[in-house]
Amino acid sequence: MFSPIHHSFGPHVDASFVKKAFALACNPGTYVRGTSIEKLRQTLSKKFRGEVGLFSSGREALLGYLKAIHLRPGEEVIVQGYTCVVVPNAIHAAGGVPIYADIDQDTLNLSATSVALCITPRTRAVICQHTFGIPSDTKGLRALCDEHRILLIEDCAHIIPDDTGPTEIGRLGDAILLSFGRDKAISGITGGSIITRDPEVSLEISILESNAVERSWGNVFTLLTYAPRMVYIVRPLIWCGLQKPILALLNVFGLFSPILTEEEREGHMSPLLHRLPNACAALTLHSLSRVQSINDHRRMLTKFFLEYGKEKKWPLLPGIHSDMPLQKFPLFVSGAKEKRALLKKDNIHLDDGWTGCVVCPDTVDITETGYESGSDPAAEKACMAILSLPTHPTMTIKQAKVLAERIDELLK
Ligand SMILES: Cc1ncc(COP(=O)(O)O)c(C=O)c1O
Repeated sequence: MFSPIHHSFGPHVDASFVKKAFALACNPGTYVRGTSIEKLRQTLSKKFRGEVGLFSSGREALLGYLKAIHLRPGEEVIVQGYTCVVVPNAIHAAGGVPIYADIDQDTLNLSATSVALCITPRTRAVICQHTFGIPSDTKGLRALCDEHRILLIEDCAHIIPDDTGPTEIGRLGDAILLSFGRDKAISGITGGSIITRDPEVSLEISILESNAVERSWGNVFTLLTYAPRMVYIVRPLIWCGLQKPILALLNVFGLFSPILTEEEREGHMSPLLHRLPNACAALTLHSLSRVQSINDHRRMLTKFFLEYGKEKKWPLLPGIHSDMPLQKFPLFVSGAKEKRALLKKDNIHLDDGWTGCVVCPDTVDITETGYESGSDPAAEKACMAILSLPTHPTMTIKQAKVLAERIDELLK
């Protein structure tokens, strides 16, 4: 029995992450407040050349931005079909209306053509998501947004560029959205940032941040227990399914915080903003200091899957290149759901929540998201046929080889 191949059982939790989380857990005085928050702000400001707002999650950072630009009731924000429910939830919470534009099936991202079809006099902004780290057409979208005088928000939840690129990411947006969630490009267990270059909007965001509610000490402690929970409970027990009752038990004692609340699955987001806890800022800084090696590891696995797939004539996405530090490697196959179920028996867990639904995960109440069935055919097709392969920091090349061979058997 090899260790599980997975997307979501602590993708960033390696020895260095555990050590850092343990050191932080031993220092309760710095859970909520401390010097890491300002250090992270300065580091991000230098990297993305803008003013940095820090919140407890990416979804809150997005809500903060939409509040700061005074989105008016009924104003529209264009997002892509094939996104996470927290994105439209934040738009709804700000009083806006999410409008879903279809994706380009070669890149899984918005295209200027599909966005142009959705622009109306009520459009205020476009959120371009660099899906799984595949760069979106920021140049085309920037030109379109300028023409219509609308804002461009780059959603970099899935990718943080490093010194070698991708150079087109994080440069042209009016705002850059980052997430430091557990399975994102970098991780602080939770956290998010919005980076802006308009002084008036930045000021509004800083006011929102200073009025935001602090996470409790107990809540931060629960977050810090995430690393040992993954290493000592979830990963060892995943193959026999025992981790589920144990996590349910931890949930009862408030020792587990799910990524999505029941309320969020039903299409609602609390309007309350929370500050980024200092301990999460410290973990994010730790992860950010390793972004080059994290991305190089992702590049290595992307290149491996791409070359293996080419040799075996897998159905590869034309928009993927071997120098991309993908957050995950997408393949499109028939019977993707059945294949995932078969792989699970081999301790390979490829369900990442981005399957079977245009607004993910598939447990979301789609009627509350504002998505109209049939409106984004490419997104609907992609989410049904996708089989994503992990490229995260704790996925080894040995595991990638095992996975590639198993996938190849299934594709034949
Ligand atoms: C594309 C995308 N944008 C933004 C977010 C929000 O990130 P967070 O989980 O930090 O709220 C997510 C999270 O799931 C996401 O997938």
